[in-house]
Amino acid sequence: MKKLISLVAFLALAVVGQTLQAAGNAAAGKAKSAVCAGCHGPDGNSAAPNFPKIAGMDGAYIAKQLEDFKKGVRKDPMMAGMVAGLSRADMDNLGAYFASQKRNPGKAGGSAENIKTAEKLYRGGSSAMSIPACMGCHGPAGAGIPARYPAVSGQHAAYSQKQLNDFKSGARSNDGGVMGPIAARLSDADIKAVSEYMAGLH
Ligand code: HEC
Ligand code: HEC
Repeated sequence: MKKLISLVAFLALAVVGQTLQAAGNAAAGKAKSAVCAGCHGPDGNSAAPNFPKIAGMDGAYIAKQLEDFKKGVRKDPMMAGMVAGLSRADMDNLGAYFASQKRNPGKAGGSAENIKTAEKLYRGGSSAMSIPACMGCHGPAGAGIPARYPAVSGQHAAYSQKQLNDFKSGARSNDGGVMGPIAARLSDADIKAVSEYMAGLH
């Protein structure tokens, strides 16, 4: 019975893996990606901290964000202009291309004490503040759980900090109501510390 269950689980994973791969064509995405390079870097490893690294992010997550920018449910003046002319197939292809790139590692910032506080929050949450462990959804090494929970490892701290502030204020609300209530319970100091901590995850 155990053997059967693991076989079924293996087959299910294999099927999911195939559908994710089939969703986009990386070569076609690469051909469309020149316009993205100015901000996100040619391989999705952006240099400037306000532009997120998208290299190695799940393809379906990338396509969802592009779709959300196009529908206006995630708002950013720079990205709004970028997605206006993209078809759904373009989005899947761009997702497949950037997913196939390797993310450059980052470095944790802040004081040793801040890193300790942030690590505790990331790995264990806070029962006093009713905050679940970030790790539960974003993974112990920050790789995320595709396709729903994005990778946060090695991300620029300034970008992560802005996202958490946007979830907290409600400016970003395309997350199915998951991050809003979590971010709302984080202090500004927690947000800064955990963002600097995630930048060093790999
Ligand atoms: C002029 C600069 C600029 C260009 C060019 C640009 N982006 Fe962006 N992109 C941004 C900014 C800024 C954000 C973060 C917005 C925010 O703060 O929510 C972003 C966010 C994203 C995100 C969300 C990442 C995440 O972790 O949620 C994706 C995916 C993305 N861009 C893909 C693309 C693709 C694909 C292209 C090319 C078609 C592109 N971008 C072109 C500036 C740019
Ligand atoms: C129950 C699952 C869950 C937990 C727990 C969780 N997150 Fe998230 N997180 C999400 C989802 C869902 C999204 C957004 C997905 C989307 O936009 O499609 C997200 C998005 C994010 C983003 C934006 C990533 C990007 O590339 O734009 C950051 C940063 C983040 N979370 C940090 C945290 C931190 C820090 C904690 C712990 C304090 C945490 N999350 C706990 C589910 C979770």
